[in-house]
Amino acid sequence: MAESMKGLHRTHRCAEVVGAGEGAFVTVMGWVQRSRNKGGIIFTDLRDRSGILQIVFEEDKCGTAVFERAAGLRAEYCIAVEGTLEKREAPNKQIATGEYEVVAKTLRILSESEVPPFPIEENTKTREELRLKYRFLDLRRPDIQKNIMTRSKIATETRAFLAENGFLEIETPTLIKSTPEGARDYLVPSRVHPGTMYALPQSPQLLKQLLMCSGYDRYFQLARCYRDEDLRADRQPEFTQIDMELSFVDVDDVIDVNERLMQRLFKSVLNVDLQIPFRRMTWQDAMDQYGSDKPDLRFGMKLHDVTDLVRGCGFGVFTGAIEAGGTVRGINAEGQGGMPRKKIDALVEYAKTYGAKGLAYIALQEDGNVKSSFAKFMKPEEMDALVKAMDGKPGDLLLFAADKKKVVWDVLGALRLEIGRQLGLMKKDDYQFLWVTEFPLLEWSDEENRFKAMHHPFTMPMEEDWDKIDSDPGAVRAKAYDIVLNGTEIGGGSVRIHQADIQEKMFEVLGLTREVAEQRFGFLLEAFKYGVPPHAGLAYGLDRVVMLMVGADTIRDVIAFPKVKDASDMMMNAPDTVEKKQLDELAIRFTTDQE
Ligand code: AMO
Ligand code: AMP
Repeated sequence: MAESMKGLHRTHRCAEVVGAGEGAFVTVMGWVQRSRNKGGIIFTDLRDRSGILQIVFEEDKCGTAVFERAAGLRAEYCIAVEGTLEKREAPNKQIATGEYEVVAKTLRILSESEVPPFPIEENTKTREELRLKYRFLDLRRPDIQKNIMTRSKIATETRAFLAENGFLEIETPTLIKSTPEGARDYLVPSRVHPGTMYALPQSPQLLKQLLMCSGYDRYFQLARCYRDEDLRADRQPEFTQIDMELSFVDVDDVIDVNERLMQRLFKSVLNVDLQIPFRRMTWQDAMDQYGSDKPDLRFGMKLHDVTDLVRGCGFGVFTGAIEAGGTVRGINAEGQGGMPRKKIDALVEYAKTYGAKGLAYIALQEDGNVKSSFAKFMKPEEMDALVKAMDGKPGDLLLFAADKKKVVWDVLGALRLEIGRQLGLMKKDDYQFLWVTEFPLLEWSDEENRFKAMHHPFTMPMEEDWDKIDSDPGAVRAKAYDIVLNGTEIGGGSVRIHQADIQEKMFEVLGLTREVAEQRFGFLLEAFKYGVPPHAGLAYGLDRVVMLMVGADTIRDVIAFPKVKDASDMMMNAPDTVEKKQLDELAIRFTTDQE
């Protein structure tokens, strides 16, 4: 039976009672982790979000009535206890409050609990599906609670830092017209205007640019964003950005304030001192050296371009790829020359999932022997030169991919990470930040047979490349930057175009007619007629920042109510059907419905 808490006031959270000092009379409330009846004495572990505290019920101290009720306590009962804080005879070093216990005087059972579908404990083995169905219980688990509390701290520190640095927190609407960020929009039908839709923002991009036009020269927002795209471990359909925009600034200003923001967050939340400035690398170098625009710098194993070296060699796979306009590159997995054939074959299969047609290898044995999938096609001196170019030493494993440049980058970039993972080269608490700069402005879309903006259509081209916009648009670099932490893109941004003529040219290159541009972003173009300041900005994925800071394996572990792979919410069972009346009001009929 549930009792009221009338007349009781919680004095401390469980783990905070220690501060009250021995002998203090305290009132604590929380959930029963477990309760053991040892005959004349009952030990109950009481849990709240601060931790666990041992409560002791002894019949002579709490009286028979309380003792009898305590004997009925079960896991997850919600209770209130008044009692005296005392030193424990046998301290428990495992828990923060282990030196103390509360000797109970009173007990109220605030509410009972059914047997939960899984135990509420750290490092659970419960499958995620079940946890997410009962997320409200899963959220009681200490490791998830720690993540959610750290997330709150990160948000609070972010707000404090940005406010101290002259940023204004401004909310922007979430029922808007679609913003062009490249993903699919979530749409919301309008009742008042049948046949039309709002879009949920993929980011507040255009709105924050308008705020710059309106003179709010430093803006930020913890903004909800929605993107209907395929989910991965670091992607959710609905996520939060730390979004910012600044006026009268260039690339270095944005980078500077953001390095200091990261430094502040890591110090105050993790007590980790970050060295700033962070490293910077152009997009071209990142691709050439790591096969990725978000290189993980916790280990080396860089890509080597051996195209010129093998151009005339006897191995048809290499020369064929080069003749077809491709390239041959390799990585050196140092010390892995002894890798068993089976494991090498598995790497070849892995490479194929990234589009490789195959993977050629040279396994340099410690004893000087060489095992290779293609030595028989090569002259000994060609092999020697190749090994030398790869800095190969006895005991190393050299892996080569020959294909179009993009495929080779993808394959070797992924392979490098896979080998790094297998060898345990990525320590979670080794924080390697990197700015990737000078992204290409445009990227060719085979699907649409046109150039698309790599970041978005409002990104400023680099002045020095502007003369190539007509002759070689693909070679124009942008004033765009990503901030990368341990191989994850945690944020990205750019300097924006603020000149009407450049913006018009940009639309033209993107194949947008004046009418279409007007229809889509007319309000922005209109605003740009009235004195637009030079401006630039950046947005982090807050969820990703938290994920890396707490060392979570998936973004779902740092979001209170996340969605699963097919974008559904397993607890609420959303999305779901709605009543016909609701659809009628919105003038909606589904084509999937049977007539
Ligand atoms: P961008 O599209 O690069 O830029 O997004 C910024 C950051 O948001 C995070 N992010 C995501 N996090 C979780 N789930 C997702 N589906 C998801 N998509 C993106 C990433 C990414 O780096 N308006 C621009 C920013 C700007 O130019 O100022 C923008 O949205 O960490
Ligand atoms: P093959 O002559 O097709 O049997 O290939 C000989 C070796 O080259 C095998 O080890 C293949 O895995 C490898 N190989 C095939 N295609 C490629 C490629 N595009 N890049 C690198 N190695 C390849």
